[in-house]
Amino acid sequence: MEGPEPGNEATDPRRRRWLAGAGLAALGGLTAALPLAARAEEEKSTDVLAVEDLMREHGVLRRALLVYAQAADQLGRRQAIPAEALHRAAELFRRFGEDYHERSLEEEHVFPAVIDAGGEPAAICRILATQHRRGRQITDYVLAASAGTAVGRSRMDTLAGVLEGMVRMYQHHTAIEDTVVFPAWKRTLTPARYSALSEQFEALEKRMFGHDGFEDAVQRIGTVEQAFGLADLATLTAAPPPASPAR
Ligand SMILES: [Fe+2]
Ligand SMILES: [Fe+2]
Repeated sequence: MEGPEPGNEATDPRRRRWLAGAGLAALGGLTAALPLAARAEEEKSTDVLAVEDLMREHGVLRRALLVYAQAADQLGRRQAIPAEALHRAAELFRRFGEDYHERSLEEEHVFPAVIDAGGEPAAICRILATQHRRGRQITDYVLAASAGTAVGRSRMDTLAGVLEGMVRMYQHHTAIEDTVVFPAWKRTLTPARYSALSEQFEALEKRMFGHDGFEDAVQRIGTVEQAFGLADLATLTAAPPPASPAR
């Protein structure tokens, strides 16, 4: 692949930027503008664009699903679970997943554009919207079932089944969004519109959650994982398979 020729100001953007900065400095009295310009350039290159933003939000939600799967497994074996931590996972799903990620981003911006473009991705968006509504019913249930200090034995099986259903649905839901819907959405946008929407998403996140909603959500799900004994990633490494498949 052809890249910029290092040092050639016509083709190397880094050199063009350096020369532009050097020109400003040479004008005198503007030397302070160089670090500022460099900082602005640096910030731009580390900006999170819309699809990366949506996908890393899926990462937080999938970590909540790992907690749901763990809770379902323990409940299915009639083991007590830290109900208060499950409640916090469901609250995070409600606020960060349903109110922000689903309602304010996907249903407001992504799905309408993909549905307008038509075809298979449009049909998929209608199913995904139905799954958002089902997920909210499930979150209502999980919030109610985990409201006390413990889950009663009579409710364990039902709650386990509800959590398993949510895990199965939402794992596929996010995978289809990542691989089909978000690429289809990006194809509907000009680079300028995509850049503007990326900034809009960031501004909305700050408005809804303060300085950095994503960092806050990561920290919250981290404390829930600790309560469920899931904080040590190494413990999730699979056991080695047997030497040869059993016949
Ligand atoms: Fe979704
Ligand atoms: Fe999503």
